[in-house]
Amino acid sequence: MAKIGIFYGSTEGNTERVVTQIQTLLGGESVAVLHNVNSATADDMQPYPYLILACPTWEIGQLQEDWDSFIDELADVDYTGKKVAYVGLGDADGYPDTFIDAPGIIHERIKDKGVTLVGQWPTEGYNFEASKSVVDGKFLGLVIDEDNQKDLTAARVEKWVNIIKPEFQ
Ligand SMILES: Cc1cc2nc3c(=O)[nH]c(=O)nc-3n(C[C@H](O)[C@H](O)[C@H](O)COP(=O)(O)O)c2cc1C
Repeated sequence: MAKIGIFYGSTEGNTERVVTQIQTLLGGESVAVLHNVNSATADDMQPYPYLILACPTWEIGQLQEDWDSFIDELADVDYTGKKVAYVGLGDADGYPDTFIDAPGIIHERIKDKGVTLVGQWPTEGYNFEASKSVVDGKFLGLVIDEDNQKDLTAARVEKWVNIIKPEFQ
């Protein structure tokens, strides 16, 4: 069975495109399975030792709407021995004060439940004022800005996958 579960929400398709790239670089469907949170439950998360949680920030510092409905499911997962990595999408020019807040909101729910966080990411190269996803000077996970820095996405994804790959085996 695939060891990596990628749980994502995507209103306009940007996050879906990015997680599909991540899935391919990790080795395809036999290694990493995509789950849209609009039809997922805690039971779907439980079997995976490695989780990627991918959420764009919407409505000024809020979770994407499907994640908003899904987030209570996180309380029913046993995180013992699990490694978690985040992917956040946002728009630094449009929303500099709530840039990539969503992973920070999700992490608040599970950080004290025994998860091991992997894949933190430097803040250099992003022009923003505040983000709930910055902890100890780093982003909680990969940050993608399709609105302003689309041309950097492929290289960022590749670099990040190379960081998490050794953690996820
Ligand atoms: C109405 C609206 C509100 C948004 N609010 C935020 C925000 O607070 N912070 C942020 O970083 N991005 C914000 N964004 C940008 C989206 O997160 C970004 O476009 C993202 O790529 C959308 O991903 P999706 O296509 O997977 O839904 C907002 C976009 C819109 C249209």
